[in-house]
Amino acid sequence: MELAIHENRLGGTLPGCIGNFSATFKGLSLALNLILGEIPREIGNLVNLQVLQIHDNLPIPSHLGNLSNLAALTLSNNNLSGMFPSSLQNLQNLIYLYLERNNFKGPIPSYLGKYQSLTRLNLASNNFSGPMVFPMTGNLLYLNLSWNHLSGVLPMEIGNLKHLDTLDVSGNILEGKIPSSTGNCDGLTVLRLRNNLFHGSIPQQMSSLRGIEDLDLSNNNFCGEIPKFLEAFQFLEKLNLSYNHLEGSLPTQGVFRNLSATFVVGNEKLCGGMPEFELPKCVSRNSKSREGVHKLKLTIAIIFGLLGITLVATFLYLCLLKQKRKEPISSCLDDSLLNLSYGTLLKATNGFSSTNLIGAGSFGSVYKGLLQESGNVIAVKVVNLTRHGALKSFKAECEALKCIKHRNLLKVLTVCSGIDYKGDKFNALVYEFMVNGSLEEWLHPHLAPNDADGHSKELSLFQRINISIDVAFALDYLHNQCESPIIHCDLKPSNVLLDADMVGHVGDFGLAKIVLESTPDTRANMSSAGLRETIGYAAPEYANGSQVSREGDVYSYGILLLEMFTGLSPISDMFRDELNLCNYVAEALPQRVMEITNPVLLHEGECHNSSQDSLHKRNRIFQECLETIYRVGVACSVQEPRRRMSIDKVATQLHSIRKKILTASSLR
Ligand SMILES: *[C@@H]1O[C@H](CO)[C@@H](O)[C@H](O)[C@H]1NC(C)=O
Ligand SMILES: *[C@@H]1O[C@H](CO)[C@@H](O)[C@H](O)[C@H]1NC(C)=O
Ligand SMILES: *[C@@H]1O[C@H](CO)[C@@H](O)[C@H](O)[C@H]1NC(C)=O
Repeated sequence: MELAIHENRLGGTLPGCIGNFSATFKGLSLALNLILGEIPREIGNLVNLQVLQIHDNLPIPSHLGNLSNLAALTLSNNNLSGMFPSSLQNLQNLIYLYLERNNFKGPIPSYLGKYQSLTRLNLASNNFSGPMVFPMTGNLLYLNLSWNHLSGVLPMEIGNLKHLDTLDVSGNILEGKIPSSTGNCDGLTVLRLRNNLFHGSIPQQMSSLRGIEDLDLSNNNFCGEIPKFLEAFQFLEKLNLSYNHLEGSLPTQGVFRNLSATFVVGNEKLCGGMPEFELPKCVSRNSKSREGVHKLKLTIAIIFGLLGITLVATFLYLCLLKQKRKEPISSCLDDSLLNLSYGTLLKATNGFSSTNLIGAGSFGSVYKGLLQESGNVIAVKVVNLTRHGALKSFKAECEALKCIKHRNLLKVLTVCSGIDYKGDKFNALVYEFMVNGSLEEWLHPHLAPNDADGHSKELSLFQRINISIDVAFALDYLHNQCESPIIHCDLKPSNVLLDADMVGHVGDFGLAKIVLESTPDTRANMSSAGLRETIGYAAPEYANGSQVSREGDVYSYGILLLEMFTGLSPISDMFRDELNLCNYVAEALPQRVMEITNPVLLHEGECHNSSQDSLHKRNRIFQECLETIYRVGVACSVQEPRRRMSIDKVATQLHSIRKKILTASSLR
């Protein structure tokens, strides 16, 4: 039961009998009324209350601490002053907390950092001082601490907020550098740090924030050059770098082409850029420094004569050395990688025991292992060399992994190739261990044993969208951003692994093909791969021996996307003869969108909304989003390869759906 009497002209005082409402009372919204006087303390009896909205100049009841089931609390714009109410510390189940535009002062209480479920926190426009405090878990989507008096640095732990969409800390007195871990928050669409005392350069790691739309670093002390990667941010609509100490040439591509989207005034040493910006021309740095070196050499030679020649030689030698060091390291894996022997792996996996076995893939078995020395958990794929094609697959995977590095690809720690104790050849790949297993186990939990703690696994709509974007980013990287395009050839839910923060990582490159223009040997070889589970995801043209292609991967992606939201496996018994997952979904559009959607997704989060109106609105948006997702999935898995959508376009569309859902789930 709920009572929403906001936006009326109710006057008088609120009667105490409000506390006699039944214990099943779930929502109360009193915003924008003319109610006077205190809110009765009896409100504390409504122990099952989940949503409480009291904003715009209403006094706040004491006894809020009883409401431990509260999921959403809005006390915005109330002229509330003094220290932060300690009664809020019992509200550990809060998901939304909106306290913006009040006069709270003093430090943000540390207990707010322990609100593990919090997804949206808004403390903007108060007088909070002291360090930034926020829950450092992956659940937070929206964090607004702007226009307070917060000091100190932006904590490194900001990088734990893997799903953060909006971060606004403008108008404080924060200092220090932007931590490099900010690059982990690659779901960010809004990042505002304006009007603070931040310094240092814009970190290279921020190049992973590819979804950003609004980036405001203005009015700080940032220095150095404007990084080129900002040119590639295709969603960037507003970039404000005004009033810093940035220097060097202003880039000219992407957002920098648009005078009404980019703001750079107040950086005296900037030059170049599109003519519209009216910046001075850049003086070529090269000729300047060469001139400098020349002068230096001349002076040294004159003053020191013979000795000078020695010096110059040393100088040139050092330059050469420096240049050499700058060359990219082209070897397969970093030196920093662990070097693990057969013996270490044997120990780590308890002698490759069956209790450590976590999967049997196409060409080998995967074991979980614990490295005694470091305590790191790893996954070891031992290649089954007796199987035809296994060595080839091992080599393909090594080759594919040579150049690639992306946060949505499963990271290989090292390769172990040697002789085992029996004298046989032994080949293994060692990966990061992914705590949350594969997407397959989450989509079809009945196929896999439950967790030890008996958790039944269920992904939320939002998690599903995030994972589908992760996979699209990984494919886009493989197809379009590697030196030579890489075709994965075996995309399916069991090859998408989930880390502790439920971020998706594409793995298993055993069938991957690097497409080199010169080698015609890129025929699909599905007969040797010949695995049942691959069927259903493999593009139909592969059956006729077509060359592997990006379009083939996109087909698999489309099927995977449809599976994630319908909950139906493409190899389910219901799909036979002419009926497959793609045309099953296509026929249901647009009328039966909700009917074909996995029922667990339909009622998600409903209790957090206070009014029927917003519930209807939210459902409508969900339905629209699902329809778009299905259309993307169908457009990826049409029969004709040339008509399939390209993966970067897929990423763009899903990204905007994600945004829409975020907005919908914050309706109040
Ligand atoms: C509320 O309930 C209490 C105890 O059950 C009762 O004494 C009181 O009269 C009720 N108040 C109203 C306004 O109904
Ligand atoms: C850019 O930042 C400056 C300094 O903070 C501010 O004055 C200006 O209004 C900003 N421009 C836009 C369009 O937000
Ligand atoms: C330039 O930026 C503005 C503001 O973001 C946007 O409305 C406009 O469409 C952009 N123009 C072009 C040509 O991209």
